[in-house]
Amino acid sequence: MKTDRPVNLNLFPQPLAAIVSISHRITGGALFVGVAFALYALDMALSSPEGFRQAAEMIHQPFPAFVLFGLLFVLMFHIVAGVKHLLLDFHIGDTYAAAKNGAVAVIIISLLATAVLGAMLW
Ligand code: HEM
Repeated sequence: MKTDRPVNLNLFPQPLAAIVSISHRITGGALFVGVAFALYALDMALSSPEGFRQAAEMIHQPFPAFVLFGLLFVLMFHIVAGVKHLLLDFHIGDTYAAAKNGAVAVIIISLLATAVLGAMLW
């Protein structure tokens, strides 16, 4: 049967702007889960001077350090992509051409912010 329906939409690979957009939602979910770890470490650090020392030691262990660093990146990405999203609501950077530049800027700024914060923390 011959039909005019569009077929083979070729949805992959998605444009970078789309990948950054869905990553924003995914990082939101990851933050929701990751806040539990951050609050656990904060609670430990604030409990007593000994607790503070334990928390400081903990974040220098490889696995907790990896989790915390990942959480930092996820937070930076979510904030930077969130600010871009809010700018889009004011029609700043909402053209097709600007979308790709905006996505690249989100990735670069969040990586840089993570590196700076990571260097300050460790
Ligand atoms: C621990 C803190 C945060 C958590 C757990 C969180 C979680 C989430 C989640 C799950 C979504 C997806 C909602 C959906 O797509 O239906 C979301 C969206 C959003 N977040 Fe966050 N968020 C946090 C912090 C922030 C911060 C600091 C900003 C600042 C810019 C921000 C800006 C946004 C924006 C603008 C959206 C809407 C994106 C859209 O409409 O597609 N979020 N957040």
